Order: sequence, then structure tokens, then C-alpha cells
Amino acid sequence: MILHKKPEHTKVPGFWEMPAIAFRIQTGLNFSKRDTILTEVDYWMNFLDSETCHSLRELFFDSMILAPVSVNGLMNRNYGIGSQRATGWSLQLANMLSELIVPHLSEKFCSEKTSTDWWQENPKKNPIWIPVQVSPLFRFMKYESGGEHYAHYDAGFIYEDGIHRTLKSFVIYLTTNESGATRFIRDNLENINVWERDHSDWDRRVLEEEVLSSFLPQEGSILIFDHRICHDVDVYLGEKDHPRIIIRGDIIYRAKSL
Ligand SMILES: [Fe+2]
Repeated sequence: MILHKKPEHTKVPGFWEMPAIAFRIQTGLNFSKRDTILTEVDYWMNFLDSETCHSLRELFFDSMILAPVSVNGLMNRNYGIGSQRATGWSLQLANMLSELIVPHLSEKFCSEKTSTDWWQENPKKNPIWIPVQVSPLFRFMKYESGGEHYAHYDAGFIYEDGIHRTLKSFVIYLTTNESGATRFIRDNLENINVWERDHSDWDRRVLEEEVLSSFLPQEGSILIFDHRICHDVDVYLGEKDHPRIIIRGDIIYRAKSL
């Protein structure tokens, strides 16, 4: 049993108490897992069908919540708007997505080189983690022409029970776009112990030669990766006047007692 704690409304700009979901969350008929060249990066095509993506986009638009986020991922307009966000809270959506995601995930064995937040507040450095649930906290994000997000690292959320924490991020693409790829970036930190790495946001655009792998938004696909793998969102060029829309979420794991 995980004790979820809803964030304080006033402390999260763009907080959105999501309404009950009256539609089904369904996987597409052509669901398929694709090989990626990076370890701990999974990419599944047609994870959600087109109808589900449409319903989720409508749900987001109906919320009318669009808090500005800068290219550094901060709520600070001085750096230019990278995207607009609603931070949604829904246990129902978390449970629906858990049924579709968690059975595909396996136990996670972490080492000092594993790029996620498995080691903090873990005195015995228990390395084995079991996937249990999708977090009820979701970021619905809308990128318009010129939107981007500089290279950065996601962070895990550590629950007070000392047993649960998030170890992986996911991105569900609700639109298909010809630009605005999610890209994994060479940061040359792979040989440094994860607790000694500098996980500060980057303050510049990445160079083409630093891009290891790139995923263009494809409606219904999902990208799942360890939190601390360096990634960015390439500039979205805003083709055909339609935005790039994604849901960002997290996967909760439980420590396996040895
Ligand atoms: Fe991110």
C-alpha cells in the first residue's frame, strides 16, 4: 500500500485536480516494443490507441490550465517559454495506466553506475527494486512553435515510508509531430558513480554530435527511461499550427528486501 500525498494546490503552479475519467484507456492494436540503442530506455509504439489519445487531449484542453514553463523547466518567464503545463492529479488514471505498463516492466537491479535515484536514503544500498505503480502525479505539457526544453535530468520522488520511490520517467506522446524530438544526450558521466554526478540543468542547447538517440513524437507511443539519463526536447517548429502534446509521468518501485 502506497500512501500518496497530494501536493499542496498553492505550491504547484498549474495544479489540476483531474476529473473522473469516463472513457477507456486502451492499447493500440499494433502495440509493439522497439529496440533502442540505450540501456534503460524503452520505446513502445501504439501503447495507446488514437481514440484514447484524442480523449486525453480533450481532457487537458478542457482543464484550461496552462502554466508557463521556461526552456530550463522552471516557472520563470525570463528564460523564454519552453512549454505550458497542467500538473494533474488522478489516482484513477494512475491505476488505469499501471495495468497497461507495470506488467511489461521487470525487477530493477541497480549499481553505482545506474542513472536513477535508487541510492539516497537507502543506508544498506539495497539494489533491487520491483515496479509497482504509476504515480498519480502527471504533467500534461503543450509545446507551441519555438518551444524547447534544454538538456536536464529528471529526479525521483522518495516516499516517506522508506520503501517506495520513483525510479523511471515516462513520456506519452498525444500528438504526432515532425520536430520536437525527445533526445538522449551524451554527458560523459557514465563512468562516475551516480552519487558523485552533477545533475544540474544545462544552460545551453546541445550540439548535434552530443545527441545519442532521438525520438520524434508519434501519437500513442511511450518512452520509459531511468530518471537521471540526460535528455532534452529539441525545438518544436510548430508545423501545421498544431501543438506538441505529451504526458510526463513517473513509475513507482518498491525496495525488495534481501
Ligand atoms: Fe525531463
